[in-house]
Amino acid sequence: MTLVRHRRALVASVATLVVLAPLVWFWQASLIPGSYQASSLGYHDYGGGPRLPGTTRSVASLTEQVHRTPDVRVTLTARRERGHGIDGYTLNHRSPGPTIRARQGQLVEVRLVNASVPDGVTLHWHGVDVPNAEDGVAGVTQDAVRRGHDFTYRFVVRHAGTYWYHSHQVSHEQVAGGLLGALVVEPAVASPGREALALVHDYGGRRTVDGAAADRRVDAPAGAHVRVRVVNTNNGQLATWPTGPYRVLAVDGHDVHEPGVVRDRSVIVAAGGRVDLDVTAPARVELSGVALVVGSATGDARRPTRTLDLLRYGTPAPIGFDPATATRHFTYSIGRRPGFLGGRPGLWWTINGHPYPDVPMFTVDTGDVVVMRIDNHSGSVHPMHLHGHHVVVLRRNDIRATGSPWWTDSLTVANNDTYDVAFVADNPGVWIDHCHNLPHASDGLVTHLMYEGVTEPYRIGSRNHPE
Ligand code: C2O
Ligand code: CU
Repeated sequence: MTLVRHRRALVASVATLVVLAPLVWFWQASLIPGSYQASSLGYHDYGGGPRLPGTTRSVASLTEQVHRTPDVRVTLTARRERGHGIDGYTLNHRSPGPTIRARQGQLVEVRLVNASVPDGVTLHWHGVDVPNAEDGVAGVTQDAVRRGHDFTYRFVVRHAGTYWYHSHQVSHEQVAGGLLGALVVEPAVASPGREALALVHDYGGRRTVDGAAADRRVDAPAGAHVRVRVVNTNNGQLATWPTGPYRVLAVDGHDVHEPGVVRDRSVIVAAGGRVDLDVTAPARVELSGVALVVGSATGDARRPTRTLDLLRYGTPAPIGFDPATATRHFTYSIGRRPGFLGGRPGLWWTINGHPYPDVPMFTVDTGDVVVMRIDNHSGSVHPMHLHGHHVVVLRRNDIRATGSPWWTDSLTVANNDTYDVAFVADNPGVWIDHCHNLPHASDGLVTHLMYEGVTEPYRIGSRNHPE
């Protein structure tokens, strides 16, 4: 009797151990050190290229090597402040912060002052391929700016287009809370046309355009062309559709080559992405809840059932390099599985089968031509954003891009989609490559592209929380 009971107890404890031991192991393996270097994360992936020693450089030395008086000087003071019905953040007492305007080739200097943001702040120039030390990622390219401190960013805007800026410290919280603004780079030779900004942001679920919860009006006589710069600062994609025919002049700050006239289609703007639309007054540019009203347009327009496919829009043009000569091929495969993240049980994102922090470190050398295959089998949509570079789309689901070169910095990758993109590694540093649905990033959908030999003096953890 007792023997049977003992044996049962023994079997039960062995079974418990068999179940628990691997769990404890996985839990233990998921723990993230209190503070760590981004470039020490995970494992190196050389993409089939050579492993070169690289020149040893610190991120901190990768600054803008232009020494002259800045052409544009701005001070932005960040505060924890109530606005738009939420306890959020402001820059110079407003959200969105002031629009920064510069002309192509100008040197921009922005002094960021943290007046009252308890967690610290940074500013990242989304879509501007700045030198690494100016990229504004807390714990990777700088330390978060503490209350009472300041930090000065200096960079040349080499490319005309529509961009935006936002904090990259506790970004899933600070961006939603309004720590952001638009950055517009006009062409070196000013184009005479009219233009308008349409920065879309949701404050506590309330949609706004340029900070207004109602339709925004811009004056334009009938027949006038207006360049509307749509900026999607939210975590989800944004459908926009002007009434009447229009053209898409630019995507993510890059001009579309020979954009054709579009009718009865909406454009889907990725989270973090931008499109510049050419509309003819009078017109309404619908922004899925609010609108930019150009001229004396009335009524509102129903969303077209079809969407514009950028894979086939515009006409081909040279991209400046040959992806067929790629020296590295990477895979960024997004999945999801149950496990632990930082000791917390849950369903977590994986990159190439590994949950954060055991993710691939895409390692390159200056001058590499890189092809990256991004695939998504995670059940969710992910807007993928690589810092410091623009990528050109080669193929989606093995279908070749046949339109204008589609340069992007914020690419919506739907579930079960595969994109092949290419870029030239021409901007040394340690660059975060993450999902711009920012809560996904803070749940571990983050890795980095690093140039061999570059090291950072900063640490993620303790005061720096980039996501
Ligand atoms: Cu717009 Cu890493 O961010
Ligand atoms: Cu995501």
